[in-house]
Amino acid sequence: VITSVSALEILDSRGNPTVRVFVETDSGTRVSASVPSGASTGENEAIELRDKDNSRYNGKGVLDAVNNVNRIIAPAITGQPVSEQVHIDRIMKKLDGTENKSNLGANAILGVSMAVARAGAESAGLPLYRYLGGNTARRIPVPAMNIINGGEHADNNVDFQEFMAVPIGAPSFREGLRSIAETFHRLKTLLKNRNLATGVGDEGGFAPDLENNEAAMDIIMEAIEQAGYKPGKDISISLDSAASSFSPDLTSKYELKWSGEGKMNSDEMISLCRDWIKKYPIVSWEDPLAENDWNGFRKLTEKVGQSIDIVGDDIFVTNTKYIAKGIKEKTANSVLIKLNQIGTVTEAIDAVQMCREAGWRYFISHRSGETEDTFLADFAVAMGGGQLKTGSASRSERIAKYNRLLEIEMELGAMRCIIGRK
Ligand code: PGA
Ligand code: ZN
Repeated sequence: VITSVSALEILDSRGNPTVRVFVETDSGTRVSASVPSGASTGENEAIELRDKDNSRYNGKGVLDAVNNVNRIIAPAITGQPVSEQVHIDRIMKKLDGTENKSNLGANAILGVSMAVARAGAESAGLPLYRYLGGNTARRIPVPAMNIINGGEHADNNVDFQEFMAVPIGAPSFREGLRSIAETFHRLKTLLKNRNLATGVGDEGGFAPDLENNEAAMDIIMEAIEQAGYKPGKDISISLDSAASSFSPDLTSKYELKWSGEGKMNSDEMISLCRDWIKKYPIVSWEDPLAENDWNGFRKLTEKVGQSIDIVGDDIFVTNTKYIAKGIKEKTANSVLIKLNQIGTVTEAIDAVQMCREAGWRYFISHRSGETEDTFLADFAVAMGGGQLKTGSASRSERIAKYNRLLEIEMELGAMRCIIGRK
């Protein structure tokens, strides 16, 4: 049973405060878990509680969330069997009493939820991926490595947030990771040779100023080839436009920084996507349209959903309420899963389960603000793979997850996931 729950304000990879939770049990288990934090957040995400005390961390402190763990959640779950994940998550939801966890804060609740899962695994003597995924969990997700950063994750002029290299042809996770890391290094050389910036963005991808969004694709194609791989056969591309971040009304207007692309409506954005899908080896496209552009999402999915994954992030926010609507209306065919968008481990698993039942894919994801916690790697294996976004081949908060997956693969001789709809 749980004997102690406590929280600490720590820093994330952007140097902003976040919550770390410690859980102890009577069997001597003592574990911790740390909560990530997004920048391009959806309107309907569970609420991350910030102190708004401008004398500390520009108002971004999380001492209220820490206090909520120590004073409200801890007494309510102390004495509960640590294996009762669903029950404990339910207690916290009820204690909070709001739909979006704005009372106690999703950062407080998720920190406890993750730490309880880890304590449960430890008490059962199991690795976390096996504890959460069962004895048959042995699929390693295909990594989508974010090698060019734009949008709200960098200060360059690239509108689309993430350009990711996906090793679709690799025989194992280890070899796949090598191929995309080699591509990342080749890309650096190419940028350097053209006097373009090689500094990195929030998720560790390069963040150069480029002629337009398409130039990012072209230079990635070159990097893949020069690294000795075939685009579309060995390595494909996943994109995250994070289109809400350049849509002032979140529905129908898109304002790109480029004179050629410039201001667009939903249909024009759809036709840009279709042109790119014809031209480049794209396997999945996340948030190609803004979070309230359900119609646009549906139209694009109808046109290209047979051949690529249309992934909803800000539109579904890992919430079964919105995912169910999406499934009914054929709005997309894949969901981005972010633990802190919904706020408990149980509800994130519910979202994955809903995808599975509908024959939709799911994409497990980090946030742009991360910590050294590797919970996500185990969680992705527990969920049976799919794709995983956990950043680039730089920045240790990203690499930590890749390294954990290498360990799991070694432990399991694990099966690799297969992706792609063609
Ligand atoms: P975020 O970015 O963590 O800043 O929301 C990740 C994503 O949009 O997928
Ligand atoms: Zn996204």
